[in-house]
Amino acid sequence: MTELRVEGGRPLRGQVRVPGDKSISHRALILGALAEGISIVRGLSPGDDVARTAAAVQALGAAVNGHQITGGRAHLRQPDGVIDVGNSGTSIRLLAGMCAGFDWLTTLNGDASIARRPMDRVADPLRRMGAHVDGREGGRLPPLQVRGGSLHGIDYEMPVASAQVKAAILLAGLSAEGETVVREAVATRVHTEEMLADAGADIEVVDEGGGGGGRTIRLRPSELHPFELDVPGDPSQAAFWVVAACIVPGSDLMIDDVYLGPARAGFLDVLAAMGADVERVGERSLRARYSPDLHGTEVGGHQIPGLIDEIPVLAVAAAVAEGATTFSDAGELRVKESDRVATVTSELSAFGAEVEPTDDGLVVGSGGGGGGGAGLRGSHVRSHGDHRVAMAMAVAAMAADGGSVIDGWEAVVTSYPGFEDDLRRCVSG
Ligand code: S3P
Repeated sequence: MTELRVEGGRPLRGQVRVPGDKSISHRALILGALAEGISIVRGLSPGDDVARTAAAVQALGAAVNGHQITGGRAHLRQPDGVIDVGNSGTSIRLLAGMCAGFDWLTTLNGDASIARRPMDRVADPLRRMGAHVDGREGGRLPPLQVRGGSLHGIDYEMPVASAQVKAAILLAGLSAEGETVVREAVATRVHTEEMLADAGADIEVVDEGGGGGGRTIRLRPSELHPFELDVPGDPSQAAFWVVAACIVPGSDLMIDDVYLGPARAGFLDVLAAMGADVERVGERSLRARYSPDLHGTEVGGHQIPGLIDEIPVLAVAAAVAEGATTFSDAGELRVKESDRVATVTSELSAFGAEVEPTDDGLVVGSGGGGGGGAGLRGSHVRSHGDHRVAMAMAVAAMAADGGSVIDGWEAVVTSYPGFEDDLRRCVSG
């Protein structure tokens, strides 16, 4: 196990460039494997999660060499062994959808965290399309076994707002007979449908209006053509630096080349509501400065899918803000890489923050804090094997008085292996 030591109170300055977006990277590899020919993808996420998807598509017969992905149906085949997705929920759910389109048996498994992640949300629609999906507890939990082929399109109203479920259904729909329709009442990230359209899929997206930005996606069976893509920086990783700069006195930080498209930039709205000094510069850069007067806010409802991954670090901002911040309608936090309601509560409390867990979220701060909020004090905390908890606690440590230690720091390898190097650069630059 490795640890990160952080000395609090050191301003973040200069520029940082975050790794390639994880969601886009997974999809680029899978669509590249399905596309007929050679796709070029630059700037893939360097994390282990995306490396797992890369290894998986190779086990399925695609070739990945540097920026080049050679794919197409003639190359693809049943994998010889179990596909190990490590810690990656996106890999297991998207690969289940992809493999459902083929007449093979695929077994997908991962680490102890994956063993607890709900899979019925993909198993149910894939079964309705004609795939055989099994797993522990009747397919509710991994390992997952998918025997696909001979699928038919379905018209599916998503019971849970999940971009991974949407992606799994659409990937299966590429080789289903007839039309596949996915209806989402609340907008989730749009990468799958946008990237499918760019690869030539016969797909149509209709905005249904309504408070949640609901959409209907219609996909007809399609052959994909190869594509070229520069993966933009990951907004979920940028959020750590944005919050850090807002809460460490003296900070003024530029975060360059960040994807700020639909359902990914919601954390910026929350920070704006809290009074943070964050500016968009051009299309894709952010400038964040120390913001001494942060105050609490309410976060919930339709906002949640667009910022679910950012809640651990938003909770850190809330911990130094004046007054209470309530995160509600966020029960999904409980089924992420860790139970983030529990892990954020326990670890952020260790810094002296007031955090109350609720059924579907968190209440952070008491409402009674003085200007600038209650100060955090250096602490010794744990990642619980969850990369976002590790990095959120590193941000808390940056703002705390004194030194802190984060145990289980190795968890960051899943999405941001260079976080510590970037931190050293920002605090010395
Ligand atoms: C992701 C979707 C979200 C997010 C996850 C990545 C994706 O999960 O939390 O980190 O790439 O589609 P859900 O689909 O479960 O909401």
